[in-house]
Amino acid sequence: MKTARTLALFRRHVISNYRRLGVVVVRGRGSEVWDADGRRYIDLFPGWAVSGLGHCHPAVVRALRDQAGKLIHVANNFYNEPQALLAEQIARRGFGGQSFFCNSGAEAMEAAVKLARLASGGRRWKFVSMLNSFHGRTFAAITATGQPKYHQGFKPLVPGFSYAPFNDLGAVRKLVGRETAGIILEPIQGEGGVNVAAPEYMKALRALCDRTGALLILDEVQTGVGRTGKWFAHQHYGITPDIMTMAKALGGGTAIGAICARPEVAKFLVPGTHASTFGGNPLAAAAGVAVFEAIARDGLLENARKTGAYLVKRLQAMSARHPGLVREIRGKGLMVGMELSRPGAALAERCLAAGLLVNCTHDTVMRFAPAMNIGRRILDEGLDIYGDCLEKFAAGG
Ligand SMILES: Cc1ncc(COP(=O)(O)O)c(C=O)c1O
Repeated sequence: MKTARTLALFRRHVISNYRRLGVVVVRGRGSEVWDADGRRYIDLFPGWAVSGLGHCHPAVVRALRDQAGKLIHVANNFYNEPQALLAEQIARRGFGGQSFFCNSGAEAMEAAVKLARLASGGRRWKFVSMLNSFHGRTFAAITATGQPKYHQGFKPLVPGFSYAPFNDLGAVRKLVGRETAGIILEPIQGEGGVNVAAPEYMKALRALCDRTGALLILDEVQTGVGRTGKWFAHQHYGITPDIMTMAKALGGGTAIGAICARPEVAKFLVPGTHASTFGGNPLAAAAGVAVFEAIARDGLLENARKTGAYLVKRLQAMSARHPGLVREIRGKGLMVGMELSRPGAALAERCLAAGLLVNCTHDTVMRFAPAMNIGRRILDEGLDIYGDCLEKFAAGG
């Protein structure tokens, strides 16, 4: 189908709630995608951090094909094998615990908020989350999101939420009380500009939760399943959450979300309290199992660490050439941001025109979340394009 025809159908029949780039992506393989006119792009932000193994990873494709021929969906009043195996992987690679499956990051946050209130036996209903955070677009998720622009037009929000600046322990301490059910944060804020939690802050939040009885709820929707060079980002800090949310890379491109909770907390999600028709269906869960297996088999955590360090080194070399333009490079593993001194949307557009997909978030932060299995050759090709575009952007073009 020609690009113009797709765009015309969209204009007519699809609600325009996204600011879309004028490209129709029709095919992907690894860290490359092709548009409807046959043009190739290097993808350093595949699927907004969903395609953690790149596009159409052979193991994921195989798992989907096999499972689709056996059983695509079965209701959750039956058991299904892939869901059991995926929950086992999450427990084994994470902190033990038990999982509940849904279909997206926002739904996982919704489940976490509900579970935290339930687990307090009705005594605790408040939450502290962080400014600049992003947790999704359902009501509990936008309320947890500490950015007023996501609240506009939707008030009244869910009651009981207050916000602390990220990495400011004193501010959290002031907000936590006897009615606080949970402290919610991303170990590395993604949409908020790739802001990394300080080690002492994370440890102190864990201690604060232990002391006050609030639950530590870590949103690992973007950081989880290997992206930062560990299975889950909290493992960099030597702490474990009470509830962790996941989505994005978990399903290798299929729609899946999950929470994992300590058994003493998980036990409160009894029949009748929460559910999802599609959650953990055999197709998405089989893809999830293939993702975990491929990461373990192919040593992709190490690749994320090594390639991430290389990516940072190359970005730092670019930054040295433009000290007035680049403020900071930060991140962990393959979740990396370059903060600019001016808005970067035009730079992202320039990259797109040059055949490179990167993201600009929080107005001034260029965000890179390449596939964990990206090779040096293709990364270098992408970064050469980026360096070139940055050069022109710096010159004011
Ligand atoms: C950290 C984080 N939490 C939650 C979400 C919401 O996920 P979804 O869009 O799958 O609902 C996102 C999405 O970008 C995210 O980055």
